[in-house]
Amino acid sequence: MQALVLVGGRGTRLRPLTYETPKPALTLVDRPFLNYMTEWLGRHGVEEVILACGFLPDEMRSVLGDGEPGGPKLKYLVEEETLGTAGAIRFALDHLDERFFALNGDVLADLDLTALWKQHEETGARATLGLYKVEDSSSYGLVDIDEDGQVLQFSEKDPDRTGPGLINAGTYILEREAIAEIPPGREVSIEKEFYPSITGKGLYARELEGYWMDFGTPERYFDATWDILEGRIQTEVVTNSDGVHIAPDAEVDPNATIGPRAVIGPGVKVGPGARVNGSVLLDRSEVGANATVEASIIGPGVNIAAGDTVGDEVLGKNQVGEVINA
Ligand code: GTP
Repeated sequence: MQALVLVGGRGTRLRPLTYETPKPALTLVDRPFLNYMTEWLGRHGVEEVILACGFLPDEMRSVLGDGEPGGPKLKYLVEEETLGTAGAIRFALDHLDERFFALNGDVLADLDLTALWKQHEETGARATLGLYKVEDSSSYGLVDIDEDGQVLQFSEKDPDRTGPGLINAGTYILEREAIAEIPPGREVSIEKEFYPSITGKGLYARELEGYWMDFGTPERYFDATWDILEGRIQTEVVTNSDGVHIAPDAEVDPNATIGPRAVIGPGVKVGPGARVNGSVLLDRSEVGANATVEASIIGPGVNIAAGDTVGDEVLGKNQVGEVINA
């Protein structure tokens, strides 16, 4: 089985971390985010993952390589121009199987893809969407279905709408022949253009149970981190007795206070008297003596000087305002 994963976006909401590292290659706890996705896809029989890249493809390749041993093999396709979510799938047409999974590259989930595939085969759909029930649907697109699972309509994000709803989980099964009908070479959105164009003509969906999170904002990056550390998603991760992950080669002074809730990445140094809580220190970052870091993501190689206090910040080597590769 094959999956195409959309990883071409700029990840603007996670800047400055995403100026130099594309969102799917960002570290989440102890590995690149995309490895959680390939683990999940592998559990449902996927052997090949095509990464539809646009932004920073070389960085993507250098972080993710050919994939993890025993997991799906990674293949890279690079768009020269922004094609949008459906345009990117159309661009991959010559590489696609007759039927394949397609996913947004920022979904952390363990939804039952095998059940989705089964329904897709039973209905003879041209496209089937995985749906997920959320308590607050205001920042997501809602999908209405009938009792047979046929999609009736899509509603756009609406900040004034509150309450629970079934949302598009960015997890699809598609027929190659349906994708072939998308006009090539121009920007096309899967939600705004392609799905509305096939609504009532073979577009189905199904609610899936389990864990789901789209990790596009710092807030959700934290939620995903704590969910992994606290065992709410199926994966293996090493934590100490306080539930904190500390990379084996990190140097944490015995007089530093770490946690509750923290990730200390590889090559990180934390000095004496420093306090780190509710925070993620990414590769090779340093926190000087008596500094305090709270509710923050400290990007790779960033130094927090001795005695400084950092709270509610996302710090990268290139700070907001200095736009690299935009
Ligand atoms: P923000 O800029 O913070 O909204 O993040 P984003 O760039 O990831 O955008 P969004 O969350 O809307 O995109 C959903 C998924 O589609 C992400 O995994 C993107 O990487 C991917 N994506 C969006 N546009 C394109 C595109 O033009 N080409 C490809 N290949 N992928 C895309």
